[in-house]
Amino acid sequence: MELIARGRDADVYALDESRVLRRYRRGGPTGLESRLMTHLAACGYPVPRVYEVTGTDMVLERLAGPTMMDALARRPWQVGSLGRELGRLHERLHALPAPEWLPKRFGTVGDDRVLHLDLHPGNVMLTGRGPVVIDWCNAGAGDPAADVAMTMVTVGGADVPGLAARLGRGLLLRGLRGGCRTDPAARLREVAEAKLGDPNLTPTEAAWLRRHAAGGGEGA
Ligand SMILES: Nc1ncnc2c1ncn2[C@@H]1O[C@H](COP(=O)(O)OP(=O)(O)O)[C@@H](O)[C@H]1O
Ligand SMILES: [Mg+2]
Repeated sequence: MELIARGRDADVYALDESRVLRRYRRGGPTGLESRLMTHLAACGYPVPRVYEVTGTDMVLERLAGPTMMDALARRPWQVGSLGRELGRLHERLHALPAPEWLPKRFGTVGDDRVLHLDLHPGNVMLTGRGPVVIDWCNAGAGDPAADVAMTMVTVGGADVPGLAARLGRGLLLRGLRGGCRTDPAARLREVAEAKLGDPNLTPTEAAWLRRHAAGGGEGA
């Protein structure tokens, strides 16, 4: 099998022209994640089709196209419009009521929505059928502000080298806020606190999150 990508949690292999195998290096299971992806596809939300699920493996529709992260590196002048695209993906997702079987994370008192909770440019692929959202392992039911806040702290606190990259992410976040109506402010501290539990953080990212969990302002 040809390894086509290695994310922070999963290895992705090409099975053929139209399918990939996504395998967790540690953890899983994938039952809930695949159930949610199937549900979202039926709601018309852009996710890869799920063909098969066993333990830590999922066979998924193979998406053709760069990630939004690759597109940002290649076409940095499009940062504003890509940010708005990311915002619109939040907005469309949060229009969907959470199914009752989806575990609560950042729950509300009665109007829980589907939250991705890791919706950053590395988890969006730009395909012929438009942007498609991948990597649903953190998803839960709750307050849309938490989802937008998670993107803010993930992008804002990412350990990226260079001034250009830091300027770029400020512009990306501005575009994000332009593309969706949800104000993340009320959930920023709580989400920074929760993200501190992520085992993949670099020391710089963890230090940034600790400052924001303690209440240091917005994530740009
Ligand atoms: N359905 C797919 N089709 C093509 N490439 C994919 C697909 N799913 C994931 N990838 C590639 O694999 C990488 C890692 O996948 P992802 O699901 O985000 O795993 P991780 O949890 O490790 O980040 C993505 O950035 C993308 O390049
Ligand atoms: Mg990913």
